[in-house]
Amino acid sequence: MKGVILAGGLATRLRPLTLVTNKHLLPVYRKPMIYYPMEAMKRAGIKEVLLITSGDHVGDFANLLKSGEEFHLRLYYAIQQNSAGGIADAIKLAEEFAHDEPILVILGDNIFHFDLKESIKKFTKRYADHGKAAMVFGVHLDMLARQYGVIDIDKKGNVLSIEEKPKDPKSDIAQTGVYLYDNRVFDSIRKLKPSARGQLEVTDLNNQYLREGSLLCDVIDWWVDAGTSHDELLRANIQVAQLVKEGKL
Ligand code: G1P
Repeated sequence: MKGVILAGGLATRLRPLTLVTNKHLLPVYRKPMIYYPMEAMKRAGIKEVLLITSGDHVGDFANLLKSGEEFHLRLYYAIQQNSAGGIADAIKLAEEFAHDEPILVILGDNIFHFDLKESIKKFTKRYADHGKAAMVFGVHLDMLARQYGVIDIDKKGNVLSIEEKPKDPKSDIAQTGVYLYDNRVFDSIRKLKPSARGQLEVTDLNNQYLREGSLLCDVIDWWVDAGTSHDELLRANIQVAQLVKEGKL
């Protein structure tokens, strides 16, 4: 399995912090934000990672992360020309890199301490048995913010629906920015049409897997999307500081 970290975008919601830099380089407690998904890749045992970002900031990422030695993995870079194309549009850039292997995708502003190894085992077994699989990761949120995808699951953990930023959420489970896909994902992306906000939506991609009955879901215990707003960035800093002191991150 190969890893893909998405670290592009304009981050207009975090201006003026992001006027001259990329949001994934902003500090979260004692490290730049991008360190957290890099460490998650390392915990998951991924050996090769492609970091996708814009041409404006790829040099800053390369100066910071170099070839990935610090994280015990081999890091590659790809440049995303269309920064407003959406998550699925960015994943497309990993096609050659993936080279027929499944991929673990993590959004560069997502922070969590969950170890993905067991989930990857589950995904790999399903893939080996059925020749197709994808996996999403949900998290229960006390106050389900309307800025997330929402996953509804039954008592056995089977996904019933995933809706992108619904007005009336069917559950309190937010879709995180962590995804596992089989190597058919690139063909699936080619079938997508842009959403109302003009993007190729990751939720539409996941719904293709849901419809064919190959979508798995694990619910993780703690997660924060540090890039959605100034308040979430502040929350990420406070919670990460606490977790580091508790030795959990
Ligand atoms: C994206 C996904 C959404 C998910 C979120 C997690 O939202 O579309 O389903 O809950 O990432 O960070 P976006 O950041 O593109 O609005």
